[in-house]
Amino acid sequence: MLLTERCIISSEQQFSIIMNTQYIVAEKGSALTPTATAIPITTSPTDVLIRLKAIAINPADCKMIDHGHRVTSSGPVVAGLDGAGVVEAVGTGVTRFSVGDEVFAQFPAPEGGSFQDFAVVHESMVAKKPATWSFEDAASLPVCYLTALLSLGIGIKMPIPFIKDGPTFGLKPSSVLVLGGSSAVGASAIQLLRLALPTCLILATSSPTHHGHLVDTLGVDAAFDRSSSSLVSDVRQATPCSRGVDAIIDVVGAGRTQKDIFDAFDSASAKRYAQVWTGDAETEVPDGVESTLFRVRDLPQLSGARDVLWALERLLEEGKYKLPLPVRIVGRGFQGLEKGLELMRHGVSGEKLVVTMD
Ligand SMILES: NC(=O)c1ccc[n+]([C@@H]2O[C@H](COP(=O)([O-])OP(=O)(O)OC[C@H]3O[C@@H](n4cnc5c(N)ncnc54)[C@H](OP(=O)(O)O)[C@@H]3O)[C@@H](O)[C@H]2O)c1
Repeated sequence: MLLTERCIISSEQQFSIIMNTQYIVAEKGSALTPTATAIPITTSPTDVLIRLKAIAINPADCKMIDHGHRVTSSGPVVAGLDGAGVVEAVGTGVTRFSVGDEVFAQFPAPEGGSFQDFAVVHESMVAKKPATWSFEDAASLPVCYLTALLSLGIGIKMPIPFIKDGPTFGLKPSSVLVLGGSSAVGASAIQLLRLALPTCLILATSSPTHHGHLVDTLGVDAAFDRSSSSLVSDVRQATPCSRGVDAIIDVVGAGRTQKDIFDAFDSASAKRYAQVWTGDAETEVPDGVESTLFRVRDLPQLSGARDVLWALERLLEEGKYKLPLPVRIVGRGFQGLEKGLELMRHGVSGEKLVVTMD
């Protein structure tokens, strides 16, 4: 991708239609700055150029902007991992997408994230938006889906039958506890578990206000108050003969503070503990627990990695994958991004923050 010289512009200025506006972070901790650049071009045969119509905010965006997570070079950061929009150009080798397609994608932040009007992304990280879905709903999907997928394939090391050339061998847990069921990643993991293991007992924790969504919409077998003092015994009692669960997926780092949660394991099971990297220290686990820390950047380690967004496109077409969490549109354009980041810094509960771009 090619970016020519940048110039900082005020929000009052009218931007030419042939220019791109990037919402740049010049250095760690600084504010977003709208910056006019040339529209990026597709230089690789596998590139897709997307005009952004909606951008979802992730906790990772704040961590990248405020603390430099993922940032390895000294150049300006273009944050934003999630987005949806319209295809403007495709590389010579792209066959699945054409100009005008409505798509959603995971973007390569911090080098060329979705916090801009136009962005280039590898075709394997793009999927077609269902015609009946809004750009805002579609923008909320990619990162939480991909991270949830890794919680199954890398965290639990289980087969994922709906991914072409995906993992086919491994543990098939009969019960899984998802810590953080009302988070975007947790709500996605619950759906993928149900698809991969239709008869698995799926239990999840959240604040009680989200239990209805977890049970009625996402189909967990039982939801538990994440702050209850009887959480561990309640979880055990929900399993056959109160044996406990075979695996735990912890997407919110709950195990760092809730040490007794490992007592929820069936002592005779594989005791797989899948932990999403949240930016904090890795959770230490008791002897006998098999812990795997992973992040979305580990995707290439998953077999079938190049097909994962295509798989999501198929699941959406077949109505097998739902919007994990309700979407809250927080605003438009630059002001919307600033507001979304500020809301995310204070924490969200059971919803996905999305910004509309024009
Ligand atoms: N390393 C990576 O590649 C990667 C990728 C994606 C996400 N992540 C990380 O994974 C985490 C989750 O991401 P996300 O987008 O899913 O977050 P999110 O939707 O913003 O998470 C908010 C939710 O976390 C829940 N929560 C917080 N502490 C909890 C606890 N102790 N037990 C149960 N639930 C708890 C809250 O539940 P209630 O409101 O119901 O209380 C809230 O609904 C973040 O730290 C994010 O940075 C990392």
